Amino acid sequence: MKLGIIFGSSSTEHEVSVVSASAVIKNLNKKKYDIYPIYIDKNNEWFEVLDDPKDQKIYKIGELPTNIKAINNVFKYLKSMDCVFPVMHGAYGEDGAIQGLLKMLDVPCVGCSILTSSVCMDKVYTKKILKSAGILVAPDIYIEHDGTDFFYIPDDYNIKKVTVIDIDKLVKENFGYPVYVKPSNSGSSIGVSKASNKDELNVALYEARKYDRKILIEKAINAREIECAALCDLVSLPGEILSATEFYSFDSKYINSKSKTVIPASVNNEVIEEIRNIAKRAFKAIDGNGLSRIDFFVEKKTNKIYLNEINTMPGFTEISMYPKMIENMGINYSELLDKLIEEAIK
Ligand SMILES: Nc1ncnc2c1ncn2[C@@H]1O[C@H](COP(=O)(O)OP(=O)(O)O)[C@@H](O)[C@H]1O
Ligand SMILES: [Mg+2]
Repeated sequence: MKLGIIFGSSSTEHEVSVVSASAVIKNLNKKKYDIYPIYIDKNNEWFEVLDDPKDQKIYKIGELPTNIKAINNVFKYLKSMDCVFPVMHGAYGEDGAIQGLLKMLDVPCVGCSILTSSVCMDKVYTKKILKSAGILVAPDIYIEHDGTDFFYIPDDYNIKKVTVIDIDKLVKENFGYPVYVKPSNSGSSIGVSKASNKDELNVALYEARKYDRKILIEKAINAREIECAALCDLVSLPGEILSATEFYSFDSKYINSKSKTVIPASVNNEVIEEIRNIAKRAFKAIDGNGLSRIDFFVEKKTNKIYLNEINTMPGFTEISMYPKMIENMGINYSELLDKLIEEAIK
């Protein structure tokens, strides 16, 4: 089988995608698959990677493939594949665009559909769908900007132009500080910050707006971060993130080796079963197929469970939470890849 592995792209998570893809290529069964690594650089130029997949090394954050050759006719190249596995994180890849391209070319593609991936890439829309399924999410204020002004977008879309002073008032009226401010479309904590007063809110809003037109301001939940893996119709036992820093930033995700994961999470059985039940319902609500990592906040004082976000292409290194939670179900990394490919071509 000719299997294309697409990674990179102009997403802010370019480097993470390169690392994830190197682990996928390394662990694929070389007897089963003829592997064609396809690298999209930050200018969205497409390249074949000429290194032999049998000698694939695991990249470190920041290392990029160098032994590459431009692909002249991308459509023709993709069309010659029996299946493609996009290992892309963030906008320009995890947002359904790559599935759209492959669908038009009639090439089977690993993972979620266009709809599911685009909905899950956009936290504003993910939350609207989850709420309609009765799933608890952190209370938020939804703001947009046009490069000059901010706009408050309430549920009824009676949109109002607002200043940071107005937004500060909205925060105090709705849930108070501290809050998390985040781009609606992002990942790997890029553009996410915590704010405890109006000045920090101001800084956080300007940081988030670098990455997206849409911004969410959420009540900070004082919580444990617990995640669950969905694979086809299976839902794993949850795992817990023990972040090296107060919030699970880019640095604590990929650089600070003090961050730890615990699988299964040490929470009581009732909480475990409730998390798995919510994960199952959420995966259905977003019409999920293939895979997703579903991330929760479990409030420390109350054990209340909030769904934070759904990643349709979660981090995929050998030590990433998603493959680890699947491994805990007795399915090793290579078998996981086989299952995902089987599902894509069936
Ligand atoms: N409402 C919140 N309450 C508490 N912590 C939060 C909240 N929102 C985000 N965080 C912290 O910020 C991190 C990144 O935010 P998240 O929404 O998961 O964005 P990303 O898609 O970049 O992972 C989370 O893992 C968590 O540590
Ligand atoms: Mg997250």
